[in-house]
Amino acid sequence: MTEAPNGRAEAAGMPPGAPSGEYLLETRGLKMHFPIKAGVFKRTVGHVKAVDGVDLQVRQGETLGLVGESGCGKSTLARLILRLLEPTDGEVIFGGENILRYDRKQMLRVRRDMQIIFQDPYASLNPRMTVGNIIAEPLKTHGVGGSGAGERKRRVQELLEIVGLNPEHYNRYPHEFSGGQRQRIGVARAVALNPKLIICDEPVSALDVSIQAQVVNLLQDLQKEFGLTYVFIAHDLSVVKHISDRVAVMYLGKIAEISDRKGLYAEPRHPYTNALLSAIPVPDPEKERARRRVVLAGDVPSPANPPSGCVFHTRCPRAREYCKQHVPPLIPQDKDDGAEIGGKPDHRASCFFPVLEGQPINQRAEGTPYRVSDA
Ligand SMILES: Nc1ncnc2c1ncn2[C@@H]1O[C@H](COP(=O)(O)OP(=O)(O)O)[C@@H](O)[C@H]1O
Ligand SMILES: [Mg+2]
Repeated sequence: MTEAPNGRAEAAGMPPGAPSGEYLLETRGLKMHFPIKAGVFKRTVGHVKAVDGVDLQVRQGETLGLVGESGCGKSTLARLILRLLEPTDGEVIFGGENILRYDRKQMLRVRRDMQIIFQDPYASLNPRMTVGNIIAEPLKTHGVGGSGAGERKRRVQELLEIVGLNPEHYNRYPHEFSGGQRQRIGVARAVALNPKLIICDEPVSALDVSIQAQVVNLLQDLQKEFGLTYVFIAHDLSVVKHISDRVAVMYLGKIAEISDRKGLYAEPRHPYTNALLSAIPVPDPEKERARRRVVLAGDVPSPANPPSGCVFHTRCPRAREYCKQHVPPLIPQDKDDGAEIGGKPDHRASCFFPVLEGQPINQRAEGTPYRVSDA
C-alpha cells in the first residue's frame, strides 16, 4: 500500500480524502510516466509520459466521453482510475475518497463499484471458460449473487437476459458467439455486481458498424435502468456525440478541451478539437460540400519526448512563439453562457489562443494570449 504521492488536497486547504461534493469520480493532477529501460543494466533512460497531469470530474449518473487519437493515454488513464496501475503522481477520488490511500481490503470493496468493459471482446473473455462461469466470476470473488451454485446460476441467467442474450446459453463458450454477442457478455460481467461506474474502453471500436449501435443502445438502456455512470472512451468524436453529457478531448497525455456536449460540438475552442471535428462527414450534402477540413501538420509526437510549452504547438496551425514557451492550463471558456461546474465554467480548453466564433483555424493566431484570469 502506497501513500498518496503528493499532498495537493492538503495544499489546497482540504483535509485528505475530504468528500468533494457532487462528483462520483475526480482525478487530480494524475500522471503515469512509464520508465524506459535500456542497456544490460536496464538503466532508466527516460519516461513515456502516457498520462501527464489530468484533472477530470465525472458527475453521478452522467456519461463522460473521452476522445483522442490512438496512443494519447486513454487506456492508461482508465487503468489508473481503476487502480490497475499505480500512478506516478496525483489523486483518484471516488465517492469523495482518495482511493490511492486504500489498503487491499478497502480496494476490494471499491472494486465492486468500478468496472471496465474492454475494446476487444475476443481478447478479454477467457476462451476456456463458459459464459456462465465468466459472468459468475465477479459474483464469486465478492461473495454475492447467492451462495449456492443454483442461486448463482439464476443470477447469471438473469444477467444474460438483461443484456439481450439467451439465458439458456450459459453453458456455451465465447467462440460460439458473434462479436456483438461477446461484447454483451462483457457488459453482463461488468454489471453483475451493480457497480456505480463503468469505464467503457472503446467498447464498440472492434465491432462492425451495424453492430455498434446495438451495443451502444444496450449500454444506454442499462444506464437508465441502473443509474450507471459511464466514462466512454473512443478515438473519434462522432462515436460519443449522442451518448455523452460531457466530452473530454485528450492529446499526448493531457486534456486539450472539456465541455458539456453542446459546447464542445457547437463551439469547439481548442484548435485540436476543431481539427478532429472537421474530419467528421456531415449528413447534410450542402453542409458537407462547405465543410473545410483542418489538416494538421506532421504526426503525433512521441510521449517519451513531448514538445515544450503547449504539447500541441508542433501541429497547431494557430501556434505562435508564445505557445512553445508556456504550458497552457485548462482555461475556462464560458464567459456568458450559464453552464457551470462546481462554481467554475464547464467549458475549458488548454489553449492560449482558443478559436473564437468566426475566427479562422488555418492561420496563425493574433492578439494577446488568453489567461485563466481573463475568463
Ligand atoms: N506498460 C507500459 N509501458 C510503457 N509504455 C506504455 C505502457 N502502456 C502504455 N504505454 C504507452 O503509453 C502511451 C499511451 O498508451 P494508451 O494509454 O494505451 O493509449 P490509448 O489508449 O489512447 O491508445 C503509448 O505511447 C503507449 O505506448
Ligand atoms: Mg486504448
